[in-house]
Amino acid sequence: MSATFGFFERKNTMNTTKVCVVTGSSSGIGAATALLFAGKGWNVVINYSRSAEPAEAIANQCRAHGVEVLVVKCNVASDDDCRRLAAEVDACWGRVDVLVNNAGTTRFVGLKDLDGLSAEDFHNIYDVNVIGAYQMTRALAPLLKRNPVTGIVNISSVASMMGVGSSIAYMASKGALNAMTVGLARALGPEVRVNAIAPGLVDTPWLRQGHGEARYAAMVEGYKDKAALAEVIQPEDVATAAWFLGVEAAKTTGEVLLLDAGFRITRA
Ligand SMILES: NC(=O)c1ccc[n+]([C@@H]2O[C@H](COP(=O)([O-])OP(=O)(O)OC[C@H]3O[C@@H](n4cnc5c(N)ncnc54)[C@H](OP(=O)(O)O)[C@@H]3O)[C@@H](O)[C@H]2O)c1
Repeated sequence: MSATFGFFERKNTMNTTKVCVVTGSSSGIGAATALLFAGKGWNVVINYSRSAEPAEAIANQCRAHGVEVLVVKCNVASDDDCRRLAAEVDACWGRVDVLVNNAGTTRFVGLKDLDGLSAEDFHNIYDVNVIGAYQMTRALAPLLKRNPVTGIVNISSVASMMGVGSSIAYMASKGALNAMTVGLARALGPEVRVNAIAPGLVDTPWLRQGHGEARYAAMVEGYKDKAALAEVIQPEDVATAAWFLGVEAAKTTGEVLLLDAGFRITRA
């Protein structure tokens, strides 16, 4: 694991500037969330496991807002990495106000292809989507508890509720993340609120890479046909919800917010 500081010198010697840690923020939803918090004047941690250059590019976009950025290579499936990330944030700013557990992985396996998923696939997906979120939460909990009003936002999926998505192992992992959200909300209260967002189809590289451009385009049209709002979700929509649950929803904890443009209720 490595960390790089921006070209901005530390300005907040009193460490009064709030800090948001976003896992998996080199792309998609995580990148949009880090940018939203940076735009509101928060210092941010950009985390990635493989994509160093995209992470640095997002970090530079955040720095353009005049905030400090820590870029940390950390595989959330590794508890040692999570603890080292926490130690680096502690040494840098001594505080964390919001953690967004966004890093996720999957395997694309058709729903009816039961033989297409192995136990190893389940373990690999759970290692990141469930255990990774748990480990990062555990590593940062002492820092979150230092401040009076803090929040954790777990990025789940509509897959956890509707039996749709990249694979059954992925759906199960996001269902487990929902259950863990409730357990952690009880465990970490009253100091820390814990909530989740379950997005529908989000316009990020995730599905484009998983299905290829042609199939992705067909999926988008199919989604728009079914959803009450006739839209797919943009990463910025999820970022806005993460801000709401992480910062503004002062009396909400243990909730899973469905953010699907009306895909579940469908169009009349
Ligand atoms: N796109 C959708 O339609 C959709 C819908 C519902 C929920 N979600 C959820 O939203 C989250 C983000 O997805 P996205 O669509 O924004 O995907 P994305 O654009 O592919 O971004 C995934 C991010 O996660 C990081 N990541 C992956 N494994 C990691 C690990 N082990 N440790 C640390 N970082 C890791 C990636 O960085 P590296 O490349 O460096 O690994 C990347 O920054 C996921 O949890 C996903 O399940 C997505």
